[in-house]
Amino acid sequence: MTVIEPSRKDILSHNRTKKYSATLRLWHWGNALIICGSLITVLINSTLLDRANVTPLIQNELNKDGVTATAQQAGNIGHALNDSVWEVHKWFGYVLAGLLLFRLILEFFQLADQKFIRKIKAAYHQFNQTKTNRQIARHEMVVKTIYACFYLLLTIMALTGLFLAFEDLMAPYKAIRHSVKEVHNFCMYLILAFIVVHLAGVFLAERKDSAGITSDMINGGNQ
Ligand code: HEM
Ligand code: HEM
Repeated sequence: MTVIEPSRKDILSHNRTKKYSATLRLWHWGNALIICGSLITVLINSTLLDRANVTPLIQNELNKDGVTATAQQAGNIGHALNDSVWEVHKWFGYVLAGLLLFRLILEFFQLADQKFIRKIKAAYHQFNQTKTNRQIARHEMVVKTIYACFYLLLTIMALTGLFLAFEDLMAPYKAIRHSVKEVHNFCMYLILAFIVVHLAGVFLAERKDSAGITSDMINGGNQ
């Protein structure tokens, strides 16, 4: 029986630094899951539990049992349901804020080649100074800049969200509560835009010259 010894290349590539560390991958999928959960709570409150939908629904259901509720009473019940979904949103929010903090700390402990800040600097350097493969360098730079914008957006989302969640503590800043809520609300659309661009980008990259990046984000890939 012939035993095939692993080649030097196999051994080296096995030990080679992963493209994405296990912790970053865990963060990526956990973060994606929690953001989707958070978006679902917003979707429920703005569709199924929207006052205009829920008020007649409650009135009709109560009517079937011979109870007549005014629009105000039914609206109050709807509002209470809305609040319980916001409670879930808040819990998703705490986890998301925790994950963001975790991502920040992770940046300090990543291997040099895996650090986001290093990758973004390398992309700018390649584009501005090296001037070779400009098309690829430009693409890399744009992608990394979009990720940087996303991290900034997530920070705004977490800060404004925490402000709303701890509004009692933030009572001295009551005057800006409305604006904070507006910012929180508006940033949701930017997050949605990021998700659409990101998914389309990953899909196109898989079809063109970066086939396998999704499995790299699952198994780590090789540098
Ligand atoms: C809510 C959903 C998602 C969010 C917020 C999100 C966010 C991110 C972020 C911030 C990065 C950059 C990580 C870093 O280097 O620091 C990233 C990378 C990546 N994501 Fe996602 N992601 C989401 C969903 C997905 C899905 C569904 C897929 C696969 C189909 C995916 C595939 C990837 C891949 C392959 C990369 C690495 C691409 C590269 O190196 O440029 N993501 N994602
Ligand atoms: C991607 C993440 C998030 C999205 C898309 C999102 C989206 C939203 C939206 C659209 C609203 C409604 C604002 C309005 O009524 O004008 C909202 C409210 C709120 N969000 Fe977020 N949010 C996110 C993250 C967070 C985080 C990290 C927290 C922190 C705990 C948080 C806490 C809250 C609170 C407390 C409210 C107010 C709920 C209420 O009216 O009682 N959110 N969020």
